[in-house]
Amino acid sequence: MSNKRPETMERITTPELAKAFIAEQIEAIRAQVGDGKVLLALSGGVDSSVCAALLIKAIGDRLVCVHVNHGLLRKGEPEQVIKVFREELGANLIYVDAVDRFLDKLAGVSDPETKRKIIGKEFIDVFAEEAKKLDGISFLGQGTIYPDILESDGVKAHHNVGGLPAELNFELVEPVKFLYKDEVRVVGHELGLPDNMVYRQPFPGPGLGVRCVGAITRDRLEALREADAIVREEIGSLPEIPWQYFCAIPDIKSTGIKDGKRYMGWIVVVRAVNTVDAVTATVPEIPFKVLCKIRDRIIDTVPGVNRVAWDISEKPVATIEWE
Ligand code: XMP
Repeated sequence: MSNKRPETMERITTPELAKAFIAEQIEAIRAQVGDGKVLLALSGGVDSSVCAALLIKAIGDRLVCVHVNHGLLRKGEPEQVIKVFREELGANLIYVDAVDRFLDKLAGVSDPETKRKIIGKEFIDVFAEEAKKLDGISFLGQGTIYPDILESDGVKAHHNVGGLPAELNFELVEPVKFLYKDEVRVVGHELGLPDNMVYRQPFPGPGLGVRCVGAITRDRLEALREADAIVREEIGSLPEIPWQYFCAIPDIKSTGIKDGKRYMGWIVVVRAVNTVDAVTATVPEIPFKVLCKIRDRIIDTVPGVNRVAWDISEKPVATIEWE
């Protein structure tokens, strides 16, 4: 099948155009899949979620979604995937709790690219194991979007280690492969997916793994997850929301003081950036009041953290992520 977006294809900008696209894709999926079964790795990101919602409309429970919780997701994400897809959309969803498996493999590993490789490989292994347990699957659903095709040597491809093992010889079903991100969002909204799923900020495949700097430990990862939820809530409620906003937690401790006693605690680094293509990035102004609120909430509620810093580095020379 061609990988070039048809020149006649209209840009999907309105609910009407989204409705027409959805109807077309339902037909196309049914024609391709017949009475076959499709397997899909559902991360909860915009692309895989929209792809899943389209497939559910087209073939119902002949779509089998696998959601792998690798322990590096943000607070509330696995729960939301289950709520939206299993409970609201009636998806045939397999939830795999692979947290211990991933964190055990990552224990003591501090090199960022090695961490990425472990996460990528483990993800494929878990997914392939689930696939082998199932009967009668002959298709693989994938939320590939047009920029993934155009920029197959771009940032995402460069960072992500992927590809399914050859023994899983599935035919691909890629209903959103000619859509740009803004169009995927319009379609997702029309499909009834929640706004915080459809309009969410980009999140790296290796998740919090590249923000829990150095060798990941469970306690520091938990602190990062809690602090990240606070940062997302506070910066996410500003009138102008930055392109990406999150925090990182370096693998060092700094001195703090509590009840007159000195002790060592972690540092949460808050980061927000604006960018068009993630190749360069600037740092938006965040009202000082908001930064102070973030500081207070993190210090008051996240165990082990005694310092909050604000990263004002631009890309280049700093990358967006800390690793
Ligand atoms: P950097 O840190 O390279 O990030 O300036 C640029 C954009 O890419 C995202 N990023 C990743 N995305 N897998 C991904 O899918 C990764 O390993 C990865 N590393 C960075 C980052 O969040 C930013 O949006």
